[in-house]
Amino acid sequence: MRTQVAIIGGGPSGLLLGQLLHKHGIANVILERQSADYVLGRIRAGVLEQVTVDLMEEVGVGGRMRAEGLVHDGVELLFKGARHRIDFPSLTGGKTVTVYGQTEVTRDLMAAREAAGLQTVYEVGDSVRLEGFDGTSPSVRFRHGGQEHELQCDFIAGCDGYHGVSRASVPKGAIREFEKVYPFGWLGILADVPPVSEELIYANTDRGFALCSMRSPTRSRYYVQVPLEEKVEDWSDDAFWNELRGRLDPEARERLVTGPSIEKSIAPLRSFVAEPMRFGRLFLAGDAAHIVPPTGAKGLNLAASDVKYLSDALVEHYGERSAAGLDHYSERVLRRVWKAERFSWWFTSLMHKFPGEGEIAQKLQEAELDYLVNSKAASTAMAENYVGLPL
Ligand code: APR
Ligand code: PHB
Repeated sequence: MRTQVAIIGGGPSGLLLGQLLHKHGIANVILERQSADYVLGRIRAGVLEQVTVDLMEEVGVGGRMRAEGLVHDGVELLFKGARHRIDFPSLTGGKTVTVYGQTEVTRDLMAAREAAGLQTVYEVGDSVRLEGFDGTSPSVRFRHGGQEHELQCDFIAGCDGYHGVSRASVPKGAIREFEKVYPFGWLGILADVPPVSEELIYANTDRGFALCSMRSPTRSRYYVQVPLEEKVEDWSDDAFWNELRGRLDPEARERLVTGPSIEKSIAPLRSFVAEPMRFGRLFLAGDAAHIVPPTGAKGLNLAASDVKYLSDALVEHYGERSAAGLDHYSERVLRRVWKAERFSWWFTSLMHKFPGEGEIAQKLQEAELDYLVNSKAASTAMAENYVGLPL
């Protein structure tokens, strides 16, 4: 087997990269550990920056997103029992975000890939081995259908998430990792009930953080901050709704519609960056290279901007025979990555209750939130980052 770019991982990064390359006539094969259904079953965030929306349009999969995605002009910040709105268009020169689940993004990209007849090998399990990426003719070995295969290629794109094989294949001494693990998790539920409010509500309360989000006008996604030791089995739906209700303002509490959960899980929060993101002919993108805590929903958007930079660099390589884009990939991407890391860390730090920090921490957060919603400069900084910094 031979292709130009071997893509490891068929999550949003790998799928979007595949479509961007295909649009420019660059051949690619995706190797995915799991089945397509498994990949579609993972529930992740669902707020798209304009940059991500534009990329979906660029690869011709914007139709359903345009029809079903919800354009949001702002978010609400709830603290000291009252909600305050941050208006994006007036603060950012007209920018908005689109609420459209990562599952839907993935589904649309998978369908486009299939329609274009591009090859995806699912269920390769843990068999993938990356070889020769420090030289000029890399290859990928994997097992599928009970047989060993070798895929020769010009480049390998490591789009296989935080636990993937790509970053793990780099010699320890060639990579630096920066990490912060937060002392709490998010207990999230998905339910077919109308959202409590038209816009997202991020709540700072003395019981901890809560987030009211949505997937559609009839499907809600809610989260509450919980201690790390907490087990999802110990949380009945009723217990969840009660805890969420206790973190809302009186009006939202009154309006909250509850119902059986379709999905319920606890996710840890982590900030992580691996540097650099290029090793010879291996390029990392998305969660394979960096993780943000979910506050602010930057994960999927960063993955999208990474693969945009990578596809531009590969197009330049094949079209103009110039290595400049590839040479600058890591540095260029990391500048944007670190800014999103900073924003996600800041927003997480501002909104959550940190164990062991006394009442003064709560008071300081409330003072910052009061400043944030009342200062045009501070609101602008928040809005600019939330809608996404320019590429
Ligand atoms: N071989 C092949 N595929 C692998 C391997 C492997 N050894 N290890 C992991 N994978 C696959 C996973 O099964 C998954 O489908 O790589 C894919 C990586 O997808 P994501 O983890 O979704 O990462 P990414 O595509 O970079 O998307 C980043 O999506 O996952 C969210 O929170 C994340 O929103 C962020 C965005
Ligand atoms: C979500 O809808 O899952 C979501 C929205 C906004 C966030 C995080 C998660 O900041």
